[in-house]
Amino acid sequence: MIYLKNSQQIECMRKSGALLYDVLCRLREAIKPGMSTAELDVYAEQLIRKHKAIPSFLDYNGYPASICASINEEVVHGIPTDKVIVKEGDVLSVDCGLILDGWQADSAFTVGVGKISPENQQLIEVTEESFFKGVRKAVNGNHLGDIGHAIQEYAESFGYGVIRDLTGHGIGRNMHEEPSVPNFGRAGHGVRLRAGMALAIEPMIALGDYHVAELEDGWTIVTEDSSVCSHYEHTVIINEKGLPELLTYPGFALTEEAQ
Ligand code: MF3
Ligand code: CO
Repeated sequence: MIYLKNSQQIECMRKSGALLYDVLCRLREAIKPGMSTAELDVYAEQLIRKHKAIPSFLDYNGYPASICASINEEVVHGIPTDKVIVKEGDVLSVDCGLILDGWQADSAFTVGVGKISPENQQLIEVTEESFFKGVRKAVNGNHLGDIGHAIQEYAESFGYGVIRDLTGHGIGRNMHEEPSVPNFGRAGHGVRLRAGMALAIEPMIALGDYHVAELEDGWTIVTEDSSVCSHYEHTVIINEKGLPELLTYPGFALTEEAQ
């Protein structure tokens, strides 16, 4: 069942989203060659707790950290560790979630560490742009498939692989709610989108093929062909006006008219 959020609940989600935006901005600034992914995780947990919020990933199905830090061919769910040192040229994705006053926010970004190859830089930019192509379709009256279709069409036009085994999701009092939000699909198909729906839209795009595998740690997802992958995610509400609002990117206004 899809839980629609009323204005009061949307207001709560705006607060948790804004806090997560702040946390992710600070994490992004902190990323330097030579640091371990565990250091980034410690910093994230400190920032979250300082604001009386709860790191939602920690202990989620036994997950041992507050962020996921996934490098190069790692798609998502990379476990932070002091053994992994980020280095110049890496493509690092950081995914983080928190709960403020009972309301979840979930967001991820990918950055190049120091100087990266033009090929990898383009992958990061196209992944972000594919998110924005998708989110513009998150409008009252559209269908869920419109979002995935827009993401897929854009990413595949560059020859990239759109990961299929992992999807976005509804979000609210729980990190993962219905519906599941694939990054591929058919326009005009799927659940009808409604004001009050909160969705985590999160394209995962690979330079190569879309097939993925899980590592023996039981968490880390990698591309099967070891091609570099990028991930970009925001928590989005279809607001009282029936239009998409990026809760984890407050103040950002979609430039083109959402449709
Ligand atoms: N942020 C992930 C998602 O979008 C969830 C991370 S799973 C965890 O679904 F176990 F790492 F928390
Ligand atoms: Co998510």
